[in-house]
Amino acid sequence: MTSLPKSFRLDGKAALVTGGASHLGYDIASALASAGCSVAVTSRRPEKAAQSAARLAQEFGVQAVGLALDVRDTASIDRAVEEAIGALGKIDILVNNSGGGAGKSEAILTERDVADIREVIDSNLTGTILVTRCVVPGMIERGAGKIINLGSIAGIVGRDRRIYQPSGMKGQPVDYAAAKAGIIGLTRDLAGWLSPMGINVNAISPGGFGPRDLPDDFVSAYGDKTPLGHMGRDGKDILGAALFLASSASDYVTGQNLVVDGGFSIWK
Ligand SMILES: NC(=O)c1ccc[n+]([C@@H]2O[C@H](COP(=O)([O-])OP(=O)(O)OC[C@H]3O[C@@H](n4cnc5c(N)ncnc54)[C@H](O)[C@@H]3O)[C@@H](O)[C@H]2O)c1
Repeated sequence: MTSLPKSFRLDGKAALVTGGASHLGYDIASALASAGCSVAVTSRRPEKAAQSAARLAQEFGVQAVGLALDVRDTASIDRAVEEAIGALGKIDILVNNSGGGAGKSEAILTERDVADIREVIDSNLTGTILVTRCVVPGMIERGAGKIINLGSIAGIVGRDRRIYQPSGMKGQPVDYAAAKAGIIGLTRDLAGWLSPMGINVNAISPGGFGPRDLPDDFVSAYGDKTPLGHMGRDGKDILGAALFLASSASDYVTGQNLVVDGGFSIWK
């Protein structure tokens, strides 16, 4: 029998984590690096990507590169994927983490700028499709790979907007929910296509992570609605899910959406 702890190791593997320079993307890159994986992390700001890569290399003693990437731009995607392969030799693990943006502009659909709607769909959903399109040929050629897409509980449940009212937060726009539901559907169908070729495709759907710069009353209201009593914690709560889905420990798991939300989405 293969040793179970060994099946979580990623020595000799290489990963591309989009948006891996900060927050959840950085945490995911750290989880993989802690298991011996080489990593390429990206940001739209190359200096930020380079700084994060240097931190990962120093902390985990792995090869790490920082690359510029805007997932709305196919030339930028081609360049980043080529540079990642140039530096690391291959991409065994792709983490489509870039996106987010909920709460950064007017959230009410009828008052929402059309450009903001397109931006959310492009940076979350279309970007994930385009980066995957560019990376999978190498995985198909090798007959192996792991793809992890970042969905969200926003793609699974509707949001009770009253949670935002006391703090006056903008809240979550419906296009974000649509993009993340799209990612969960994309994950299943990509798995249908790629799993017979040896490539596992899964999603992680986080609940709200904080507190970051969120208002205290929102953080505590959110915790009250969460069976495990608090928001997701950066540097901690996403790590195990990411390592599981990136490693051979999950070799018989594909097309799934692993919800990491402290139970938020199951509580009525
Ligand atoms: N933080 C949460 O509470 C939460 C909850 C559910 C899902 N998620 C999802 O998890 C992922 C990471 O979230 P986070 O909280 O770390 O968000 P974040 O905003 O800190 O990170 C998102 C990353 O994507 C990058 N990005 C955004 N648009 C991009 C573009 N056009 N091209 C390239 N990169 C781009 C950002 O620069 C950033 O590095 C996102 O997909 C987000 O939607 C987050």
